[in-house]
Formats: sequence, structure tokens, C-alpha cells
Amino acid sequence: MFNRLLPNLRCIRAFGLIGSGLFVIAITIFILTQQTSRVSADYTFQETEAYCLGCHSNPDLKMTLPNGEEISLFISTDMLAESVHSPAGIECEACHTEIKTYPHPEIEFQTRREMSRSYYLACQKCHSANYKNAQDSMHARAAEAGNLDAPICTDCHGAHDVTIPDKPRSHVSSTCSTCHQEIYNEYKVSIHGGALIQEDNPDVPVCTDCHGVHNIQDPRTAQFRISSPDLCASCHANQELMAKYGLTADVYNLYNLSWHGVDLSVYKARWPNTWHYSAVCTDCHGVHDILSTQDPNSSVNPDNLLATCQKCHPDAGPNWTGAWVGHNRIDPQRTPFLYYTEVFYSSFSPFVLWMSLIYVILQIFHAIVGRIRRSLQ
Ligand code: HEC
Ligand code: HEC
Ligand code: HEC
Ligand code: HEC
Ligand code: HEC
Ligand code: HEC
Ligand code: HEC
Ligand code: HEC
Ligand code: HEC
Repeated sequence: MFNRLLPNLRCIRAFGLIGSGLFVIAITIFILTQQTSRVSADYTFQETEAYCLGCHSNPDLKMTLPNGEEISLFISTDMLAESVHSPAGIECEACHTEIKTYPHPEIEFQTRREMSRSYYLACQKCHSANYKNAQDSMHARAAEAGNLDAPICTDCHGAHDVTIPDKPRSHVSSTCSTCHQEIYNEYKVSIHGGALIQEDNPDVPVCTDCHGVHNIQDPRTAQFRISSPDLCASCHANQELMAKYGLTADVYNLYNLSWHGVDLSVYKARWPNTWHYSAVCTDCHGVHDILSTQDPNSSVNPDNLLATCQKCHPDAGPNWTGAWVGHNRIDPQRTPFLYYTEVFYSSFSPFVLWMSLIYVILQIFHAIVGRIRRSLQ
């Protein structure tokens, strides 16, 4: 009977041993997970990030794309820590939605550029407004026409190193400079670009103030040209802003009163989409290369002004610019001849009109009185 009980007792002992073993393991796992979670609370990177970085923080990790290009797969943790996304809790999987473990799914791109153009679509998920805006731009149109180098989100912002794009403000213009180098070279020595780059001046225009950011349109259309003086006026008609630089804020109003300005305003009101040949601000001052009027190289410096007018008025002689009042009001000190001519006409013309009116009234009166006299006789 004892012999029959023995196997059962062995069984109970075995279960007891296994049970206590499992208990010890459970306790160990508990302590370990407590410890790892304490460790991960101090860790900058989140769970999937830590997993992906297990391999991708290796500076030597590379792959060869089907077209033969070799690309680095190294994702630097310093770069991630400085980006806007990673510290905001946006992990690898938020953008790389298809990649969850290793081995990764089969790749569908042949070249590095195709990889960028396929992965950047991830930005759309959270920034749909900017994405929609960017669809209606010269850059998107260039891509549609087959220019795959036209910029996408990551060309201007990066992918893993996205920072606040306008800090410092000069970063905006240097972003555009990677592809528009020639224009940037002109701009950086202009009165606007110089003040931005050398003094970090917040009042001068960066590329995006004139062109927009994500929905950049063609600046060579009739519509852009006709409304371009309003663009300059957004700053140059601002009394307070211009006073800071000792500049007059009347340039826009006086331009609108000039022959060129009146001519343009008629077009703006009636045919805003028709190309019109009259002088706008940039025809005299330049576009990306605007200089201080004091600068000897300025297109409106007295030495160069005639040549500037002659672009459109080829027959203009040396007296042409002297007779032009520019952005100045007509005043007795600067332009006495014009001033007194204007005074003469502005008082003489009404005088002549009033006298004519009085003359006519007197004539009518004379005729009526004559009639009455005749009828009484
Ligand atoms: C075990 C190591 C390992 C882990 C973990 C890992 N990767 Fe990779 N990854 C690689 C290797 C190796 C390649 C090269 C291509 C290949 O072998 O698939 C690669 C390629 C890539 C590529 C470029 C090619 C492609 O497939 O698009 C991306 C993007 C990428 N990994 C993202 C991630 C993300 C996101 C994670 C985390 C969810 C991750 N990886 C986790 C090893 C790893
Ligand atoms: C905000 C979105 C975003 C996040 C978050 C993100 N990626 Fe990427 N990743 C991209 C884009 C877009 C590309 C295409 C790169 C390009 O255009 O240069 C890319 C490319 C890659 C590549 C290919 C090599 C390269 O550098 O171009 C690897 C590897 C990669 N990512 C791994 C990771 C890992 C690992 C993480 C997490 C630590 C991560 N990514 C987080 C958007 C993101
Ligand atoms: C999962 C959602 C998500 C995805 C995907 C994403 N972003 Fe963001 N992005 C955010 C959030 C949230 C912030 C705000 C972070 C903060 O202010 O701390 C942000 C901030 C930014 C900023 C800075 C905005 C500012 O206010 O200055 C830029 C630029 C940016 N993202 C570009 C991108 C680009 C480019 C991609 C694609 C490679 C991308 N984002 C993908 C959520 C996302
Ligand atoms: C041609 C370069 C360029 C491209 C392409 C571009 N951006 Fe921008 N983006 C900028 C610049 C420059 C700024 C800062 C604008 C400023 O402050 O004047 C900016 C600002 C932003 C901001 C912060 C301000 C805001 O509007 O919320 C976000 C977010 C952003 N971009 C996301 C994107 C996304 C997503 C894409 C792709 C659909 C994209 N950008 C494409 C240059 C670009
Ligand atoms: C990655 C390169 C790249 C970057 C960065 C870039 N552009 Fe462009 N841009 C292009 C290409 C390509 C075109 C189309 C040119 C063409 O089709 O002739 C273009 C066209 C334009 C046009 C229309 C005029 C024209 O020549 O077609 C303007 C305006 C413009 N970009 C302004 C900007 C501004 C402002 C920025 C910075 C916010 C910027 N671009 C950043 C590549 C770039
Ligand atoms: C003060 C306003 C202003 C600023 C700032 C400005 N632009 Fe322009 N841009 C214009 C105007 C106006 C035109 C149209 C010129 C014309 O009529 O031909 C133009 C034309 C362009 C063109 C297309 C025509 C060409 O000359 O190739 C590009 C590209 C361009 N700008 C890029 C830039 C970039 C890049 C920056 C910054 C470095 C910038 N712009 C700064 C006003 C500006
Ligand atoms: C975002 C505001 C802003 C816009 C837009 C702007 N400007 Fe300016 N501009 C300034 C400021 C500020 C200065 C003074 C900079 C300094 O002296 O450091 C200046 C200086 C100038 C000067 C030099 C004046 C002198 O003699 O010292 C000229 C000329 C000029 N701008 C013409 C233009 C034209 C033409 C446009 C339109 C195509 C334009 N600006 C658009 C802000 C602007
Ligand atoms: C027909 C040529 C012409 C046109 C068009 C023109 N300007 Fe001028 N601008 C000049 C000349 C010449 C000067 C220097 C002499 C002067 O002040 O009259 C000047 C001077 C300036 C100054 C310096 C003023 C100061 O206080 O020293 C600014 C700023 C300016 N212009 C902006 C503009 C803006 C903005 C427009 C468009 C609304 C414009 N200009 C249109 C020729 C022109
Ligand atoms: C971009 C071309 C352009 C530039 C540069 C230009 N003008 Fe004009 N200007 C015109 C056009 C077009 C008319 C209108 C002619 C018409 O409608 O009969 C005009 C008309 C005039 C008129 C009145 C009509 C006339 O023909 O006598 C004067 C005065 C004038 N411009 C002076 C100047 C002066 C001074 C400069 C140089 C500071 C200048 N313009 C630069 C295109 C220009």
C-alpha cells in the first residue's frame, strides 16, 4: 500500500519543486522588469525607438539599393534628441508605419530619390494642411512635369533632424539657397539679405515673405507683377517701421500718384491678368539685388538712374531724370520751378473757371433784364 502511495508522494514533491521554482522565476522577472522600467524612465528614447536604434545606431550600418547606390542607415541619437518630433513622443513607427520588426518588408524603390519620395508621404498624416498647400505650388508642378528634384518636405525640413524652420530667421532663406544658389547670392548682398544675414534683422523680407512658403506660385505672371507694389507696401508704407530706418513711408502713395502708378492701377482694376508694360518698384530697384539708394551701385543712384529709365525709355536724354520728381512731393526747395508752376496752375485754373462762370451768369442776367425791359416798353 505504501509502495502504491510512493509515486503519488514523488508527484507532489515534484509539483512542489516546480511550483517554488516558478515562483522564484516570477519574482526574478518582476524585480528585473521593475529595474528595466526604472532604467527606461531615465532613457530619452521610447520603446520602439530603442528597438530600432538597437541596430540603426550603428554608424557602419549600410545598404546597397537596387540601382547600386550605397546609403548609410545610421540614425544618430544626438540628431533625434534635437529634432522636434522625437522629444514630442513621435517614434520611428509613426512615420515608418510598415516597418515593425526585422526582417523588414521588401523595399519598393530603386534609388535614394525614390526612397525619399516614397517615405516623405508620412508627413501628410499629421501635417495635412501643409501637404495640401504644397500640392498647389510651382514645386509640385515641376515634379508633375517630371523634375523629381523639385523639393518635397524632407528636402527643406529633413526627416530625422526636423527643427523649427524659422529659428534663426536667416535659416528660411538658406533653406531655399540649396537649390536657388544664384538668387541667394544676389539676395545675400542686397539691402534686405545683408541686414538679415549680418544683423539677424527681423524687419527685412526673407524669401517666403514675398513668395509664400508651401504654395509658392510663379512670380513671373501678369498677376504677380501687377500686385507686386502691394508686396513692397506691406513694409514700405508702414510709417512706424520705416521711421526706424530713417526712410520715408510715402514711396507707395507717391508711386500711386505717378504716371507709372496711375497707369498700373487702371490695369489692376480692369485687367488684372493681362501683362502690362509700366514700371513697377522692381523695374527701377531690382528684385533680389535691391541696394540702398546711397550705394554707388544702386540702379537708382543718380549716376545710374538714366540707364535704368532707358531700359524702357530708350530715347530719354540727360534732362529726363532731372525733370522727374521721383518719390518726392513737389516742394519749393527741391523743385522750385515745378512747385511754382503747380501753384500758378492750381490757382490760375480755378480763377479762370470762376471768372467764366460769373461771366456766363452775368450774360444770362443781362439777357433776362434786357427782355423784361423790352416787354415793359
Ligand atoms: C536587427 C537589426 C534591425 C532592427 C531591429 C531594425 N532594423 Fe531597419 N534595417 C536593418 C538592416 C540590416 C537594414 C538593411 C536592409 C535590410 O536588410 O532589410 C535596415 C533597413 C532599414 C530601412 C531602409 C530600407 C527599408 O526597408 O526601407 C529603414 C527605413 C529601416 N531599416 C527602419 C527601421 C525601423 C523603423 C526599425 C524599428 C521598427 C528598424 N529599422 C529596426 C536592421 C534593423
Ligand atoms: C517624422 C517622420 C520620421 C520619423 C519619426 C523617423 N523617420 Fe526614418 N525616415 C523618414 C523619411 C521621410 C525618410 C526618407 C529619408 C529622406 O528623404 O532623406 C526616412 C529614412 C530612414 C532610413 C533610411 C536612411 C536615411 O537616413 O535616409 C532609416 C534607416 C530610418 N529612416 C530609420 C528610422 C528610425 C530608426 C527611426 C526612429 C529612431 C526613424 N527613422 C524615425 C521619416 C521618419
Ligand atoms: C505622428 C505625427 C507627425 C508626423 C508623421 C510628422 N509630424 Fe511634424 N510635427 C508633429 C507634431 C506633434 C509637432 C509639434 C512638436 C512640438 O511642437 O513639440 C510637429 C512639428 C513639426 C515641425 C515644426 C513646426 C513648428 O511649429 O515650427 C516641422 C517643420 C515638422 N513637424 C515637419 C514634419 C515633416 C517634414 C514630417 C515628415 C518627415 C513630419 N513633420 C511628420 C507631428 C508629426
Ligand atoms: C521649399 C521648402 C519647403 C518645403 C518643400 C516644405 N516646407 Fe515646410 N516650411 C518651409 C519653411 C521655410 C518654413 C518656415 C516658414 C516661415 O516661417 O516663413 C516652413 C514651415 C513649416 C511648418 C511650421 C509652420 C506651419 O505652417 O505649421 C510645418 C509644420 C511644415 N513647414 C511642414 C511641412 C510639410 C509637412 C511639408 C511637405 C508637405 C513641407 N513643410 C514642405 C519650407 C518648406
Ligand atoms: C530641392 C531644391 C529646391 C529647394 C530647396 C527650393 N526650390 Fe524652388 N524650385 C526648385 C525647382 C526644381 C523649381 C522648378 C524650376 C523649373 O521648373 O524651372 C523651383 C521653382 C521655384 C519658383 C518658381 C520660379 C521658377 O523658376 O520656376 C520659385 C518662386 C521658387 N522655386 C522659390 C523657392 C523658395 C522661396 C524656396 C525656399 C522656401 C525654394 N524655392 C526652395 C527647387 C527648389
Ligand atoms: C522683396 C521680395 C522678394 C524677396 C525677398 C525674394 N523674392 Fe524672389 N522674386 C520676387 C519678385 C517680384 C520676382 C519676379 C521677378 C520678375 O518679375 O522677373 C521674383 C522671382 C523669383 C524667382 C523666379 C524668377 C527668377 O528670377 O529666376 C525665383 C526662383 C525666386 N524669386 C526665388 C527667391 C529666393 C530663393 C529668395 C530668397 C533668397 C527670394 N526669391 C527672395 C520677389 C522677392
Ligand atoms: C518685410 C518687409 C519688407 C518688404 C516686403 C520689402 N522691404 Fe525693402 N526694406 C525693408 C527694410 C526694413 C529696409 C531697411 C533695411 C536697412 O536699412 O537695414 C528696406 C530697405 C529697402 C531699400 C533701401 C532704402 C535705402 O535707400 O536705404 C529699398 C530701395 C527697398 N527696401 C525696396 C523694396 C522693394 C522694391 C520691395 C518690394 C519688391 C521691398 N523693399 C520689400 C523692409 C521690406
Ligand atoms: C521709376 C523708377 C522708380 C519706381 C517705379 C520706384 N522707385 Fe523707389 N526710388 C527711385 C529713385 C530714383 C529713388 C531715389 C531718389 C528718390 O528718393 O526719389 C528711389 C527711392 C526709394 C526708396 C528710398 C526712400 C528714402 O527714404 O530714401 C525706397 C524705400 C523706395 N524707393 C521704394 C520703392 C517702392 C516700394 C516702390 C514701389 C511702390 C518704388 N520705390 C518704385 C525710383 C523708383
Ligand atoms: C519697365 C519699364 C519702365 C521703366 C524702367 C521706366 N518707365 Fe517710365 N514709363 C513706362 C511706360 C510703359 C510708360 C507709359 C507710356 C504710355 O502709357 O504712354 C511710362 C511713362 C513715363 C512718363 C510719362 C509719359 C511719357 O512718356 O512722358 C514719364 C515722365 C516716365 N515714364 C518717366 C520715367 C523715368 C524718369 C524713369 C526712370 C527713373 C522711368 N520712367 C522708368 C515704362 C518704364
